[in-house]
Amino acid sequence: MISHGRITQSVTRFVWANGVLMVQGEFKQVFPTVMMERTLDDVLPLNDRLREIVLDRERTTEGLKASNVGGWHSSADLLDWAEPEIKVLESAIMAAGRDITATMLPPGIDGDIEVKVYGGCWANVIRDGGYNKIHNHPGAVWSGCYYVCMGEPEPQPDFNGWIEFQDPRPGNIHGGKERINPEPGLLLMWPGWLNHFVNPFKGSGRQNFYRV
Ligand SMILES: [Fe+2]
Repeated sequence: MISHGRITQSVTRFVWANGVLMVQGEFKQVFPTVMMERTLDDVLPLNDRLREIVLDRERTTEGLKASNVGGWHSSADLLDWAEPEIKVLESAIMAAGRDITATMLPPGIDGDIEVKVYGGCWANVIRDGGYNKIHNHPGAVWSGCYYVCMGEPEPQPDFNGWIEFQDPRPGNIHGGKERINPEPGLLLMWPGWLNHFVNPFKGSGRQNFYRV
């Protein structure tokens, strides 16, 4: 405790452990929620081609109905598509899965991390008025989303086309929201149980992203 005249300042040391902020002494983070925001530098230059691949599929296949309202949702076999750009994306997704898993391991563990795709991977195209209903991904340890093209959103409404995550704690009156305005090349990854949705997109062009 440090006193400056009438102002009393309390100083607490803190450290980062496994990528998570920990407060030393009698305080700790009990249930932190880890989220990854990573620009995929190897995939970003391929986005124009990825966009073509997705829109070609949309023209030639029916797709699925899932959390999307409007727009188009591909089948969940995206990682089996034959185009070489898909393989580059797959490699980057798997590396991200290993890295976010590493943040949850206790210190002192050595070895390699192996991750597998569960539940598939698909492309999602959102057009004017489209959105994704709130949902999570039961059974998946991690879920993620890679952004190919953001279209041309109008200035209003607020959070136009943004992805939004809800504080998972039940009955939490102080619960916050995590809203992210994605850019092309961004990969987000989060725990599969975490509720999320996409705010309605108002604009032209196409929001176009891949999900796992
Ligand atoms: Fe999702």
